[in-house]
Amino acid sequence: MSKVAIVTGGARGIGRGCALALARKGFDIALVDLLEPEMERTSGEIAAVGQKALRFAADVADHAHARAIVDGVVKEWGRVDFLLNNAGKSMPKPMVEITEEEFDRTIAINLKSCFNYIHATAPVMLRQGGGRIASMSSLNAYTGGVTSAVSKFAYAAAKAGILGMTRALAKELGPTIAINAICPGVIKTELGNALTRAREPELIKGIALGRLGSPDDVAQLVVFLATAEPNFITGQDFKIDGFQWVI
Ligand SMILES: NC(=O)c1ccc[n+]([C@@H]2O[C@H](COP(=O)([O-])OP(=O)(O)OC[C@H]3O[C@@H](n4cnc5c(N)ncnc54)[C@H](O)[C@@H]3O)[C@@H](O)[C@H]2O)c1
Repeated sequence: MSKVAIVTGGARGIGRGCALALARKGFDIALVDLLEPEMERTSGEIAAVGQKALRFAADVADHAHARAIVDGVVKEWGRVDFLLNNAGKSMPKPMVEITEEEFDRTIAINLKSCFNYIHATAPVMLRQGGGRIASMSSLNAYTGGVTSAVSKFAYAAAKAGILGMTRALAKELGPTIAINAICPGVIKTELGNALTRAREPELIKGIALGRLGSPDDVAQLVVFLATAEPNFITGQDFKIDGFQWVI
């Protein structure tokens, strides 16, 4: 029988890579994203590896949508084995320029989104007697910003918030649910990031493994956290950065 995963921000980039890797391991995948054409492409790729896909066009910052989406997944497939809180966005702005709305939006997309989907999914996992959760933080949670010339303080705050929430929830939701955080360094996605692209040669000099990461690199870790048996890992954060020391 297939297992069931929800992947937020699964339409493209790291989320797409993780959704496809999970599908290859026998998960049916519910995608949540704002980008409908990209989500349609990813769900086609999931179908091509023989697994089922559901698509939900929604803003992860919306609490009521999260509840409705998780209810929809449970109605369709009966359970949720793995939740990947991946959707996120960095919107760099220095303290002296950022508005209250921009700060709130950064926290809502990157941190409250995790609350929204854990809030809706944890009762399902507790009821079914097991489940795992992983949330995409960032190396920025430690460094305060690696690649950007413009301040990412609000993003760094949100991503560091994920680490605290993960540790507290590991205690609260264990032993039934295991929950961990992932902190990627610079990951090259299809679209990439103009600033990162311009600085790629310089960045690579500061990465022990001599290259930027790929969505597949992150997906390997995600699959491990979703499937490793037996499991004795919870409340942790995992840097996946090729050991990057340029900050
Ligand atoms: N790429 C990197 O170098 C890097 C490094 C560290 C952490 N991360 C984190 O990894 C995650 C994925 O990033 P990525 O590089 O693949 O970015 P990406 O922009 O390629 O993909 C992010 C996906 O999330 C979706 N999304 C964004 N805001 C949303 C919202 N409000 N509601 C629903 N969906 C939304 C986007 O539509 C997109 O499909 C993010 O949380 C990001 O902060 C990325």
